[in-house]
Amino acid sequence: MWASDNVGGEALEKLVIEGGAVLKGTVRVHGAKNAALPILAATVMAEGVHTIENVPPLLDIKVMADILRSIGCTVDIREGRVTVDTSRADTPHIPEELMQRMRSSIFLMGPLLARFGRVELYQPGGCAIGERKIDLHLKGLELLGARIEQTQGRIVCRAERLVGTDIFLGIPSVGATENIMMAAVGAEGVTRIINAAREPEIQDLQNFLNRMGARVSGAGTDTITIQGVRELRPCTYRVIPDRIVAGTLMIAAAVTRGEVTLEDVCPDHLTALTHVLRQAGVQITSGDAIMNVRCSRRPGMIERIVTAPYPSFPTDLQAQMMVLLSLADGLSIVKETVFDGRFKHVHELTRMGADIRVDCGSAFIRGVPRLYGTTVEATDLRAGAALVIAGLVAQGTTIVEKVHHIDRGYDRIEDMFGRLGARIERLEPAPGAT
Ligand code: UD1
Repeated sequence: MWASDNVGGEALEKLVIEGGAVLKGTVRVHGAKNAALPILAATVMAEGVHTIENVPPLLDIKVMADILRSIGCTVDIREGRVTVDTSRADTPHIPEELMQRMRSSIFLMGPLLARFGRVELYQPGGCAIGERKIDLHLKGLELLGARIEQTQGRIVCRAERLVGTDIFLGIPSVGATENIMMAAVGAEGVTRIINAAREPEIQDLQNFLNRMGARVSGAGTDTITIQGVRELRPCTYRVIPDRIVAGTLMIAAAVTRGEVTLEDVCPDHLTALTHVLRQAGVQITSGDAIMNVRCSRRPGMIERIVTAPYPSFPTDLQAQMMVLLSLADGLSIVKETVFDGRFKHVHELTRMGADIRVDCGSAFIRGVPRLYGTTVEATDLRAGAALVIAGLVAQGTTIVEKVHHIDRGYDRIEDMFGRLGARIERLEPAPGAT
């Protein structure tokens, strides 16, 4: 079942959390949204029926399915398995309304250009975490030979043929690396992406493209080499576990001083977080696709965490980590270097009693003995997850509003934490409420 289907009503949904539960138990981590989205977009590059497994039932995945349908694909979603029949895909045009619904709609640009030699779309929807340009995506496609016209938000890319070349990325952007990789599979000759992003989701996309018959190597390092191929075939592929969901659970286990075992997790993808949590005094053991996180005392401060591209500390876990540091013993500093607007949770955490000051892109967090429940607003996906963790440990009741942001990345977060002993409930809006 989808986390939320009705965007209007869902915007009014709230989570009500009674603080004080100690998380205990075992939980399976769902598939990675950020891997599944580009992989689903890449299916359009090979005609036929693809089966993508371990796809999380999230709002963003549903939007991607709607986009694929809008270009003529048939998409069926059932229990974590998405079947995409791309044989009737016949239009490289994505309507503005769908582009506005999700930034990841931009992932269709490279695949559609590779398949049709043309793509027409719009600037993707905005985001609350800061400026998110697509200049590197466009520049990369231009270097492969695409001609790009932009008028009032509408983007038209055309290329009779794409030709491989060296592309240097000024910033190791995840999305730009993925878009260029996908387009380059359909180019003649060899493309090298230099200063590529190294995130595990990029390796997953490489593995999927190769399963379809592409020749891509180097994902996970800063240089990715793509030998263009003439033809691709549809395939079956299983998406990697979601490292950000896993990280959120690890932090929540530590903050509540509980003990949680994560199954279907990739410990190697969580090295930066594991390192920092251990420094704070959290006990972590890991095995093959399993991790155990235990914390029995107040976490210690961390002198400095700097978010940066993988394998450094992920920006997508910065807000959640800040909850732990808000309760740690001493003064910690968190510097956000990836997105410029990613401290919106600070205001809400402060309202719950946290002592945080933001100055020049860094947050200075002086640990307090406890947080207090109140009504707070999820301003974006990961900020929302952080507020839920804060609610789990706060004294009293916390109400988290604008839950639809959280639903974009967590499959019913209240059930995930509820199974571990949290007292958390979703309040649906009264019928007729607007
Ligand atoms: C992806 C993830 C997101 C994560 C982010 C950073 C997906 C679907 N989303 O987003 O969860 O927070 O990586 O790990 O995978 N930039 C430019 N020009 C561009 C592209 C990016 O200046 O053309 C800048 C951005 O503004 C940002 C930085 O590069 O400051 C990193 O962004 P990027 O790695 O592209 O993030 P996304 O792919 O959007």
